[in-house]
Amino acid sequence: MADNLGMAAHLAGQSLRLGWFLALNRIVEQRSTGVARPAKATRPVPTLRALLADVGQLLLTDAMAVRDRLYPPMEEEATSLLAHFARVREMLAELPDALDRRQSRNASTAKAEPSAQALPAYYAQDFHFQNGGYLTEASARLYDVQVETLFMGAAAPMRRAALRPIAEFMRGRDQRRMSLVDVACGTGRFLRQARLAYPALKLTGIDLSRAYLDEACRHMRGLRAAELVSAPAEKMPLADASADIVTSVFLFHELPSDVRRQVAAEMARILKPGGLLVFLDSLQMGDRPQWDGILEAFPARFHEPYYRHYIGDDLEAMFVDCGLMPEMTSTVFLSKLIVCRKA
Ligand SMILES: C[S@@+](CC[C@H](N)C(=O)[O-])C[C@H]1O[C@@H](n2cnc3c(N)ncnc32)[C@H](O)[C@@H]1O
Repeated sequence: MADNLGMAAHLAGQSLRLGWFLALNRIVEQRSTGVARPAKATRPVPTLRALLADVGQLLLTDAMAVRDRLYPPMEEEATSLLAHFARVREMLAELPDALDRRQSRNASTAKAEPSAQALPAYYAQDFHFQNGGYLTEASARLYDVQVETLFMGAAAPMRRAALRPIAEFMRGRDQRRMSLVDVACGTGRFLRQARLAYPALKLTGIDLSRAYLDEACRHMRGLRAAELVSAPAEKMPLADASADIVTSVFLFHELPSDVRRQVAAEMARILKPGGLLVFLDSLQMGDRPQWDGILEAFPARFHEPYYRHYIGDDLEAMFVDCGLMPEMTSTVFLSKLIVCRKA
């Protein structure tokens, strides 16, 4: 009874959150009307009602996992509502500039940042037409509200779906002796959920952006810290066979095909034999055929130069080539989850 009440309370909180980001999504969509619209989709596009029904199912699955004590409830960092509103205000204030960049196909503000010189050219671009790409403090501050607005509040629950295979892997193991590396951890949203679930696990986050790692450090406030390392995912400063679990969330669609393969090989290198890879990223063409039109339109609206190749890539074959054996693949709203074991 108490567990079901807890589940209902969790679901109610998540539904409020969803309503808030859905409202922001509608405001941004309305303000973006007519800006660099892609040609009409040739593939099916779901209705908003169908998308929301799926998010509802995602929230319910998440709440049931909490009820069943697979992992704890979602808890965001203790930022005040005022701080959150300030970020939302900043996002809306910056929207006209982002729309101008989208209209003129200008994705080069990142290149002008001093730190861009030392970074790979494929990376120093304005992904999503974000001002400064991933290279500035302002971009790191706005990233989470932007992503949650885009996904109508479903980004966090999609990430949390990666906790389920980890919970199954951890059963009967001593977390104090185990380690997890989150590759391209960004602002640390997944690391925070992993830390809430496993207070004693050794956690490492890798990312190329120092600004995003600083934001990740803030997001971990109040919890045992994770080691945050600025490094390329294709050359991680970690020993062979040193990690029990490797996670990667929303990274691969932003990598060129050859780098995608280097990163997969690198993840295999750092995993211990029998170790777990939990991969979460965008759906690919044909995963949910009735939604393919969304995937078709996405890279035209948001600067995503490698997305078209990504949605047709054979990810499972790529992992197998590195010795990572796929054990389970499933879809989670607009993302797909692939779970592999290192042979
Ligand atoms: C779309 S964001 C995803 C961030 C985070 N995992 C999340 O769930 O929000 C992509 C992240 O990948 C990082 N990134 C992109 N290419 C990288 C590379 N080659 N090595 C390390 N980090 C990279 C970016 O700095 C950014 O933080």
